[in-house]
Amino acid sequence: MAIPERFLDELISRNDIVDVISEYVALTKRSGSNLFGLCPFHSEKTPSFSVAPDKQIYHCFGCGKGGGVINFIMDIENLPFRDAVAFLARRVGMEMPEDDVPSQVRSYRARLLELNRDAARYFYENLSKPEGAAAVDYINKRGISAAMVKKFGLGAAPDVWNGLTGAMLDKGYSAGELVDAGLARRRKGSGIYDTFRNRLIFPVIDVRGSVIGFSGRILGDGEPKYLNSPDTPVFIKSKNLFALNLAKKSKRGMLILVEGNVDVVSLHQAGFDCAVASLGTSLTAEQARLMSRYTQNVVISYDSDSAGVKAAQRAIGLLEKTGVNVRVLRMEGAKDPDEFIKKNGPDAFSILLDRSENHIEYKLLVVKSKYDLDTDDGKIGFLKEATELLASIPNAVEREIYGRRVAELSGVSVEAIKSETAKAGRRISIARKKERERQNLRPDMTLQPASRELRYDNPASAAAEEGVVRLLMIDNSLLSETAGLAPEDFTSPFLGKIFEMVRERTAAGEDATASSIAAQLTSDEASQFTALMQRPASASNAIQALRDYIDKIKTEQLKSKAGDNLLAVRERLREKKGFGG
Ligand code: CTP
Ligand code: MN
Repeated sequence: MAIPERFLDELISRNDIVDVISEYVALTKRSGSNLFGLCPFHSEKTPSFSVAPDKQIYHCFGCGKGGGVINFIMDIENLPFRDAVAFLARRVGMEMPEDDVPSQVRSYRARLLELNRDAARYFYENLSKPEGAAAVDYINKRGISAAMVKKFGLGAAPDVWNGLTGAMLDKGYSAGELVDAGLARRRKGSGIYDTFRNRLIFPVIDVRGSVIGFSGRILGDGEPKYLNSPDTPVFIKSKNLFALNLAKKSKRGMLILVEGNVDVVSLHQAGFDCAVASLGTSLTAEQARLMSRYTQNVVISYDSDSAGVKAAQRAIGLLEKTGVNVRVLRMEGAKDPDEFIKKNGPDAFSILLDRSENHIEYKLLVVKSKYDLDTDDGKIGFLKEATELLASIPNAVEREIYGRRVAELSGVSVEAIKSETAKAGRRISIARKKERERQNLRPDMTLQPASRELRYDNPASAAAEEGVVRLLMIDNSLLSETAGLAPEDFTSPFLGKIFEMVRERTAAGEDATASSIAAQLTSDEASQFTALMQRPASASNAIQALRDYIDKIKTEQLKSKAGDNLLAVRERLREKKGFGG
């Protein structure tokens, strides 16, 4: 049903565009009658996002987005027109015009949503009361920050039978409403009791901002780990995703799908504000479609156990059907994203993310460009090289995905590619065996492939060189502190090459991100580079650290040049340091 013009006029006049936009953007500059701020739709450092209060419109000179207040809400909240109108109506307390849903049904749903909101508030407030102490302990134990508690509106269900029910009955909700909302259950005899007891509560909020249900995680070990609201008139588990309300606003251009709510929170806390989770069901077709409405790119980051791999395989199929690009993030040495980030830090996760299989995709395209696939010879050459690439992928799920991709590119059947890949795999393992023999290793010792550990001629200098590279990857602007350093100063040609790449990219005005560097490296180098980037670098006091590394490199250089003239060198360096401060 169309929304009457009169209604829209009133809606727009009550939602002043400056007020609405100010809830999302700090409009810090004024130029003439226009206000300016940093555009929420693209990344920028100087404000090119303008709002014209007199015309009630906005426009970004950087990315070109613009329109009126309804367009703004459609864009920023990622809502279709009607939902954006409803969002603004709620903001100013206007009632949406009638549509085809009977008004009784509509008002009952509204009542349940109101109850959910009050319940979320009750759970949240418990965190600052003695009843919530156990949940607070758990929050602290999991390292969840206060900011995340607030952002997600986490809460505590106390260890009693009538905590929430008591509070909500007092507020005037009925037992029937509590049961219908899934917040209470009926006793055998009479009366009701709390569904969620002694759990950490995660409100589930839909893309319009309504609290539609809850997940409760047990405080520690035990079964079931998660308890979710049952399906209710306002909550259908299979059609919603936890944290999509937040993730849809992310600028990362992707959604990361994980298993646990704790993983979601942990990722958001580490800056990956595009993480979502399904709600206790394995991913459904509806959830896949929902995700595809908000992004073209989904990265699956399920637990690394076999159940996770299986679930990922299923999810890939469903997601691919919606037309999004699906990637699987492979983790080693950690069971899930939460643990991985705690161990290795956000930068390491970022690299995994950048490198997930896009890298393989990239290499496949490079291989493809070498051959003319319209000729038989070209096809054969491409297949040989492509299946070698496939065989080098350790993860079966990934091999499967890229096998299908190779089939697509070449027009050869998936089966044929599978068997060619298996053959290539055997060739690779024979070559490895020979290499092992060459290195005189016992069969039970694993070959130290160049791709894992780097061998350095001068480990002392190389350690400092690695330090330089790691710092530069955290912050490209540190390059200005490396004026005295040349790629030739590096004892490791590999690290020198990376240093040079960072310099070149920066000189060309491009970002030197880990992924852009990795994409320019051979696959062996890329895995060396990834391994290197997984070791944490601290950004605190980076400038001093960088200077120390450079000093170290120079000292080592002088040492090897001067040989036994070492003492003199030390003296000289000491002088320099003393002089500087
Ligand atoms: N799950 C669920 N309901 C949710 C979220 C997850 O039933 N709302 C299920 C998932 O299907 C998965 C498991 O519970 O099988 C949660 O995964 P896990 O990653 O182990 O949860 P975490 O809270 O991250 O637990 P841990 O701290 O042990 O990693
Ligand atoms: Mn987990």
